[in-house]
Amino acid sequence: MSSYILALDLGSSKIKVLVAQITGPDTWQIVFPAMRKSQGIKQGMIDNLELVIADLDNLINEMEGANKNFIFKQATVGINGPHLETRISKGVSVISRADGEISEDDKDRALKAAQACVLPANLFLAQTVVQNYTIDGITKVKDPIGLKGLRLEVECLLINAFSPIIRNINRLGESLGLNFRRVILPYAAAEIALSRQDKELGAAALDLGAGTTSLCVYEDNELIDLKVFGVGGNNITNDIAVGLTTSIDIAEKIKISEGFALPKKVPKGAQIDLNQYFEEPLEDNKISKRFVAEIIEARLSEIFEMVGSRLKELNRFGKLPGGIVLFGGGAQMPFITELAKEKFKLPVRIAKPEIDWYKEVHDPSFIPVLGLIDVTFKEKLENTNLRGESVFNKLANFMERHFSL
Ligand SMILES: Nc1ncnc2c1ncn2[C@@H]1O[C@H](COP(=O)(O)OP(=O)(O)OP(=O)(O)O)[C@@H](O)[C@H]1O
Ligand SMILES: [Mg+2]
Repeated sequence: MSSYILALDLGSSKIKVLVAQITGPDTWQIVFPAMRKSQGIKQGMIDNLELVIADLDNLINEMEGANKNFIFKQATVGINGPHLETRISKGVSVISRADGEISEDDKDRALKAAQACVLPANLFLAQTVVQNYTIDGITKVKDPIGLKGLRLEVECLLINAFSPIIRNINRLGESLGLNFRRVILPYAAAEIALSRQDKELGAAALDLGAGTTSLCVYEDNELIDLKVFGVGGNNITNDIAVGLTTSIDIAEKIKISEGFALPKKVPKGAQIDLNQYFEEPLEDNKISKRFVAEIIEARLSEIFEMVGSRLKELNRFGKLPGGIVLFGGGAQMPFITELAKEKFKLPVRIAKPEIDWYKEVHDPSFIPVLGLIDVTFKEKLENTNLRGESVFNKLANFMERHFSL
């Protein structure tokens, strides 16, 4: 039986969809990518459900038409938006076995205790990310199973979401006839954008989207913070439209074809011929390329300052040896890494996950949806391992049980 994972990133400017095929007990590969202009999504959240349902319904029908093995019943969908908020929480359990060996059950009870808190009616605990365990006062244990002790403590980052946003996502799944697995999008993206070494040393993943900018900070291999800002590439486009008194569509084209993040890198006297972008020839058809770069730099600087303030609150500004890893469509702006280096006083690079398909495509706006595939795969793999299956049976059973859609 063929086995696939379907992942959906409902972006403010583009919907990104990937289908991965499971090729072995530990491997997958992308077999179908799709990207469409989105409608009805603002700041990473569904704003007009009907429009989103219609677009995705068409897209999924097309995909199922393109490959007879695609019969989708489940999908992983990203949750994004400035409504996401985090809280660090601790939970404790007393080891139940007489010989003190820690079991899954002890782990689960500690986790449930950490998750037990009363939330306001409009908030929903959307995801729990374990940071570390402490056994009888010995901290930073990553996996306590099989170790011995009396008392197990877990520390985790709880990610809460605004309930109406989650309800809309659920309605979308129902309308499409898909069983949705919800995953916090910036977390999934950071998991694949950063290497294990980055996470160990301390690093930040920064998704430069159209309606949002999302930050995830790691240290000691733990997610220590996640924050979504409601600004992004759309704001740069709007600034250009105002600065040049043009429409949003023309401003977007000029940004993508002529934009630079650093005005000092624009050759002296370089001009943009506006007649390339307007149907009617203009009298005053030349504009300084440096002027457009100044508009871009001003808005990007403001975004980086917001991110910088968050890093200062965490006491990590200038202190993340793994640096800042950029992705999202906005990371394609020429000289953005140079501007970010100046602002963050840290090494900055564009994410390059070691995924064969990504090495061909090189489009950083696909990183979050790629992260959704990877997180889903790893979670299912973990569930299979928990069942203690033999290595030999694993692949056959694994495919049979978990990945038939
Ligand atoms: N070559 C480029 N140079 C500069 N900006 C670009 C380039 N290509 C795309 N962008 C910008 O990237 C943004 C889209 O990126 P992306 O697809 O990651 O956003 P999204 O996922 O739709 O939005 P969000 O994550 O905020 O919901 C747009 O603002 C677009 O203008
Ligand atoms: Mg995005």
